[in-house]
Amino acid sequence: MSAKEDITSSESKVDEAPIEQSLRPQSLKQYLGQERVKHDLAIYIQAAKQRDEALDHVLLYGPPGLGKTTLAFVIAHELGVEVKSTSGPAIEKAGDLVALLSDLNPGDVLFIDEIHRLAKPVEEVLYSAMEDYYIDIVIGEGQTTHAVHVPLPPFTLIGATTLAGQLSAPLRDRFGIVEHMQYYTVPELEQIVVRSSHVFQTEIQSQAAHELARRSRGTPRVANRLLKRVRDFAEVGGEQTISLTTTSHALDQLQVDEQGLNQTDRKLLATMIKSYHGGPIGIRTLAANVGEDIETIEALYEPYLLQMGFIVMTPRGRMATDKAYLQLGLPLRRHDK
Ligand SMILES: Nc1ncnc2c1ncn2[C@@H]1O[C@H](COP(=O)(O)OP(=O)(O)OP(=O)(O)O)[C@@H](O)[C@H]1O
Ligand SMILES: [Mg+2]
Repeated sequence: MSAKEDITSSESKVDEAPIEQSLRPQSLKQYLGQERVKHDLAIYIQAAKQRDEALDHVLLYGPPGLGKTTLAFVIAHELGVEVKSTSGPAIEKAGDLVALLSDLNPGDVLFIDEIHRLAKPVEEVLYSAMEDYYIDIVIGEGQTTHAVHVPLPPFTLIGATTLAGQLSAPLRDRFGIVEHMQYYTVPELEQIVVRSSHVFQTEIQSQAAHELARRSRGTPRVANRLLKRVRDFAEVGGEQTISLTTTSHALDQLQVDEQGLNQTDRKLLATMIKSYHGGPIGIRTLAANVGEDIETIEALYEPYLLQMGFIVMTPRGRMATDKAYLQLGLPLRRHDK
């Protein structure tokens, strides 16, 4: 697929179901949580607008489903500019990027998701574009080869990544604004659940919203997905307002435990404990044992298990903590006691 085909402009997000779109907040005010990130961005956005300049390039990083894509569109909305959206793997050749860049109007946002997966030649074109708003294109062959200097309109690149460590240093250094997205607190997720239930035109008891928030692994995308399933249980059970009992029952059925761990989380911990005495274990071995790819484990599962204190990282690999043994109801290991 070429980059062109993969582009969705801000007005034509046709590939996303309308309900998904209405779940996405449009403005910084509607965007719940991430208070520090929002506070910083509000200042930078206002300053750029006052100077009538393009906002400096922004890198958003953190685990999947925390609202990076949503925030990129919110930033463009607050700036009052258009967004062109694409992703690292979709830009196959330097020429694809050149086409994208030359299509921008002054001040526009180019959003590149999964920016850690850009091909090297594409990344190199991005350097001069980001730094000085120009690109050098080589045209012709053999003796007729010559470089053409193409100036670009001032623009804002917003890059998103779940694996900031895989970004090359030259690329990372060209972002003036770097924001780390954090897991949401339970009260923040509660507000998101209540807002989403309004979008779904469903009522939810506050204790039920709290329970759902608590078991959503700090992630709005998970909270919204679980809310949809819990709503199914409530509707089939003839319930007008989603109750705590139905919520707890539905989450148990979905095998989301009291700590918000899902089946894969538990499988990862169980493998570490039962097959490797709790670790340390290398990422390749772990991935091969549970049948998940390395990137998914590193970007999605491990950050939450680390945050919750179920694993720790050591120079020789990850290790399960006592909390993980207790969570799975397994006897604590003896040898290191
Ligand atoms: N701050 C927020 N307030 C309300 N809803 C949110 C917020 N952040 C995210 N969401 C909801 O969570 C969903 C996932 O967000 P989004 O797609 O922006 O995450 P992401 O970080 O880009 O994930 P990925 O890394 O997988 O691309 C969105 O559809 C949106 O409805
Ligand atoms: Mg995204």
